[in-house]
Amino acid sequence: MTMTDHTVAQTGNGFIDTTHTVLLRRIADIRAQCAGGAPRESVVPDFDAFIDDMSVHFAHEELILRASGYGGWEEHAEHHETLGRQVGRLVEYLRECDVSRDFLCTVAGTLDAVLSQHEIKHDGAYATLLRSAPVPASGEDLIVWARAFETGVEPIDLQHRELVGLLNEMHRLTEGTHAKADALALLDRVRRHVRAHFETEEQVMRAASPSRCLNHAASHKMMEAQFLAMRSQVADGVVDLHVAVRDFLRFWLMDHILVCDRPHFLVMGLTPAAERAA
Ligand SMILES: [Fe+2]
Ligand SMILES: [Fe+2]
Ligand SMILES: [Fe+2]
Ligand SMILES: [Fe+2]
Repeated sequence: MTMTDHTVAQTGNGFIDTTHTVLLRRIADIRAQCAGGAPRESVVPDFDAFIDDMSVHFAHEELILRASGYGGWEEHAEHHETLGRQVGRLVEYLRECDVSRDFLCTVAGTLDAVLSQHEIKHDGAYATLLRSAPVPASGEDLIVWARAFETGVEPIDLQHRELVGLLNEMHRLTEGTHAKADALALLDRVRRHVRAHFETEEQVMRAASPSRCLNHAASHKMMEAQFLAMRSQVADGVVDLHVAVRDFLRFWLMDHILVCDRPHFLVMGLTPAAERAA
């Protein structure tokens, strides 16, 4: 994709690529406002909103990388943290100090430069992996259930299977044209299932290990926030639901099952049914 004066390569993940384009467009708008002499008071909220959206993007991207098996995801997350801290300090300075118009332009230009550099250099590093990831053909399931997904707790495995089924259904339903209201209704249906599922898991875990339950409930809260941020992007027309399901929700659910749930439940000594039968 080409922005004002730099080119950022496609990563192969439509959700990430869309949000990259939106972030670069937003910072280009802020630069234009600053160059046009917009007062500090009117531009600072845009800087703040940009920082918030960038943080959401970083969290989504880290999750996709982790679920895709990208070995460098932790190092990538550290780059995000450093970048977030640096730009956060700059915007905090704008918020608190009566800076000149030239300084506003300099900060906007710096944000543009550091974000573009990150996308070209660091995001470019994982692009090969994502570009080579298999994408299901039209009509095929997005996620095929495997015994490697089992946690050993039957009600939980059953709910995970239902969630996988729901995502596969959404994937098929959103392949063609769809109204935004229908897309949001589908997302809300998934969200209700997810909430009920998290409650089941927290009950099971609380009974077995109250201290583990606290950590696990915190990770559920974070996942719900990531889901809601993605829903807002669909509601605002920033991301198409089909792209969100295929390139974000698929990874979000796999990360939940394989990275968040499975190690937690297996360590509690519950053997998956498939492994017991083997
Ligand atoms: Fe990125
Ligand atoms: Fe990144
Ligand atoms: Fe779960
Ligand atoms: Fe969980």
